[in-house]
Amino acid sequence: MDLKQLNAFIAVAELRSFSAAATKIGLSQPSLSRLLKQLETDMGVMLIDRYHRPLHLTEAGTFFYDKISTILTEMDTVVGMTQRLSAPSSALNIGFVPSILYGLLPEIIATLKQSNPEIDVNLKDISSYQQIEALKSGDIDIGFGRFAHQDPWIQQILLRHERYVVALPKAHPLANVREQRLIDLANNRLILYHQTHLPVSTVPETVPETVSSTGTHKTLGQNKKNTSHHQVSATEQVKEPLLYLFAQYGISPFMTTTVSDLQVALGLVAAGEGITLVPASLKTVRTEQISYQRLIHENVTSPIYLHTLKDFVHPNIPDLLRATYHVYEQRGITYRRQKFESQR
Ligand code: BEZ
Repeated sequence: MDLKQLNAFIAVAELRSFSAAATKIGLSQPSLSRLLKQLETDMGVMLIDRYHRPLHLTEAGTFFYDKISTILTEMDTVVGMTQRLSAPSSALNIGFVPSILYGLLPEIIATLKQSNPEIDVNLKDISSYQQIEALKSGDIDIGFGRFAHQDPWIQQILLRHERYVVALPKAHPLANVREQRLIDLANNRLILYHQTHLPVSTVPETVPETVSSTGTHKTLGQNKKNTSHHQVSATEQVKEPLLYLFAQYGISPFMTTTVSDLQVALGLVAAGEGITLVPASLKTVRTEQISYQRLIHENVTSPIYLHTLKDFVHPNIPDLLRATYHVYEQRGITYRRQKFESQR
């Protein structure tokens, strides 16, 4: 069994056509068929059902495709990592989710540059899940995000938990109330903005029974551009990050509006269209129209994670972690110091 045979098999499995697969991998159709026949003979297993159209895999072929495509993807990752190890890029490529940029990231980069004046940093706005693929492909060396990831290639450092604050329009009756409770906010339209939802494993097996402050859910009338209004379903309540925070207290907000990102959500709050919860580092945004208030609940927080490859190759990655801790110490922020696996 060799790589050529495996690539031929993957192409046929994905394209369901001998001629399309032959074109894709740059072979004649007879050569492709020979490779596949040889693979099946070597394994002593029929992988492709050639007697029915459209062409499809046998049960054994489907099993083999699932497993071997994962292995070949991993092999590409290893080849890419090895190439980067022998010729590391001088620039440090950092992926971040937008809510991180409003907080300490600029200060952390400035601290890193002070101790490493020659360093070249590229910042890339990438969603939490895409950061994992970007780390494996070498597009970024390090990623800052707000969601945990379990991946055999990735190491994760929990930097800290940042408290959420409530963002209310300045004219809102609760705008000047300090130390707010979620139950008192449940009667408002909550603006949701997360693109990434909690992984299914985070969701409790049984959905907690929820109560709304009015006992009913309302759907709003007309949709606005870039927004969608809908009745809240039980599953969404626990997978959507903000609804999950409310659901932890058995609360279901009165109504919700979903928008494309954090900036749009704060724009709607500023326009008096509803309220939202944002990490505390956002509380300098649009302060003329928005009042930010603390929540009494200590566990209503958003974690900040650093992700990198387990076998990270860029020499400045530990410097970036040191710069982060330095900024935390200067600002008196509570955190638990951790080390990369390779430094333990
Ligand atoms: C923070 O706010 O804790 C943070 C922001 C960006 C990078 C690392 C940490």
